[in-house]
Amino acid sequence: MNKEQFYSVVSREKVVQAVRAANGPGYLFFKDILQHKYEAICQCLAGRVQVHYAVKANPSPMVLEEISRLGLGADVASGGELQAVLDAGIPAEKIEFSGPGKRLEELQAAMEVGIGAINVESLSELKKILTLSRDRDRQARIGVRINPDMGKVKTGLKMAGNTQFGISEANLPEVFALIRDNANRLLFQGIHLHIGSQVLEASVIAENMRIALNSALKVEQDFGVTVGKINFGGGWGINYFENQAPLNLSQLSEFIGVVLKEPAYKGLVDRCKLIVEPGRFLVGECGLFFAGIVTLKQNGTLDFAVLDGGMNHNYLLAGGMGQVIRRNFEIDAICQGAEEDGETKTFTVVGPLCTPQDVLANNVELPEVLAEEDTVLFFNCGAYGASASPLQFLSHPQPCEEMID
Ligand SMILES: Cc1ncc(COP(=O)(O)O)c(C=O)c1O
Repeated sequence: MNKEQFYSVVSREKVVQAVRAANGPGYLFFKDILQHKYEAICQCLAGRVQVHYAVKANPSPMVLEEISRLGLGADVASGGELQAVLDAGIPAEKIEFSGPGKRLEELQAAMEVGIGAINVESLSELKKILTLSRDRDRQARIGVRINPDMGKVKTGLKMAGNTQFGISEANLPEVFALIRDNANRLLFQGIHLHIGSQVLEASVIAENMRIALNSALKVEQDFGVTVGKINFGGGWGINYFENQAPLNLSQLSEFIGVVLKEPAYKGLVDRCKLIVEPGRFLVGECGLFFAGIVTLKQNGTLDFAVLDGGMNHNYLLAGGMGQVIRRNFEIDAICQGAEEDGETKTFTVVGPLCTPQDVLANNVELPEVLAEEDTVLFFNCGAYGASASPLQFLSHPQPCEEMID
C-alpha cells in the first residue's frame, strides 16, 4: 500500500494527531485498515474458506483483541502465542498450533485447553503427544503438517521442501500408522501445509491450494483416513515497494473458485473445513513505524537523519527477515510547524545503533525544512515488526504500540 492509498482510508491529519499523542518511537496500528483487509480477504474467499490469523506476524495484545472481535481463528507457533490468543478471547477450538519445535509443556498446554488441532511436524512430536495423552488420559486433536515435494511448488519466501518444516511425503506412512493404531487417543482432523510467505502471484496461491487438495486425496487413499480439515497456510503477500505488482484479489478469487469447483475435489470441498492462515496480509498494512529525528548531520556526500528508533525496533526496515537486498519502505515526514509541501532534499535515514546495518532508508526525498525533533513515518510496518526485531540490542527504550480507532 503506498501512502496515498493509506491516506485514502485514514486521513493524514489523523495520523499526525496520533503521532503527536504517542510516546515514540514505536508503532501505530489503525483499526480501519485492519478491518478493510479482513473484508477484502472475506470477499476474495466468498465464504467458502475460514480465516485464521497467523499470530507470529504481530502478537500485540491490541491486535489480537481486534482479531478476536472480528471473529477470526488463530494459528499459534508457541505456548506464549497460545496464551496470548486465549487471553484475547479466541475460542480454543478455533486455534491451531504449528511449528517444528514444540516443547512438551507447550503440547501439554494445547491439549489441556483442547485446541482445534496440533499440527504435528514430526514422528517424534506425534509420539510425545501420544505419551502425554496416555499419561493424562486425554485425547488430542491433531493435524499433520505435510511438507510437499518442492519439485512442484513455487513460492515467495520458501518454507517447504528441503527445510525443517512439516513431514515429508516419504515419512508419512510411519506417522499415519501410529495415528491409525491409536485412533482412540489421536483424533485426526486433517492436514496443514504452509509453503511460503510474501507470495504476490494469485496463480501461485491457487496452485498451492491445489497441491494441498491433492495431498488430502492422497492421504485418504494411501492411509485410509478421513480428512475433515484442510489448512492451506498463509503467505499472501502485500505491496512494500514501488513497482511491485500487488496481489490481484479479484483474480485470486476467480482462481480459488475454479480450484474448489474441480470435480476431483468435490467430496473434500463439500465435507472439509477449509482454512487459510495469513499473517502479513491481514496486519502488514495497518501499522506505521515512526521515530523522531535526534540529529541531522552531513558526512561526506550524504545528509543523514539519525532517528531515536532503528533496526532494534524494526529489523524489517533494515533489511532483516530473509530479505536479500534492503529496499526503501514508503516514507513520510511530519515537520513541526514548518511547511511540509515545499522543496525536498535527499536523506539517508538511520537509527541510533552503532552498526552500519542500521540504515532504514537510503537516498529518500524528505522536506528540505526537516529539523531535529521532527518525525519520520514508515508505512507497511504492521507485520514482523517489534516482535521480529532485536529489541534488546544497545538497550534503548522499547517501542510504544498504540491501536487507533
Ligand atoms: C505455519 C505458518 N502459517 C502462517 C504463516 C504466516 O505467513 P504470512 O505472514 O506470510 O501470511 C507462517 C509464517 O511463517 C507460518 O509459518
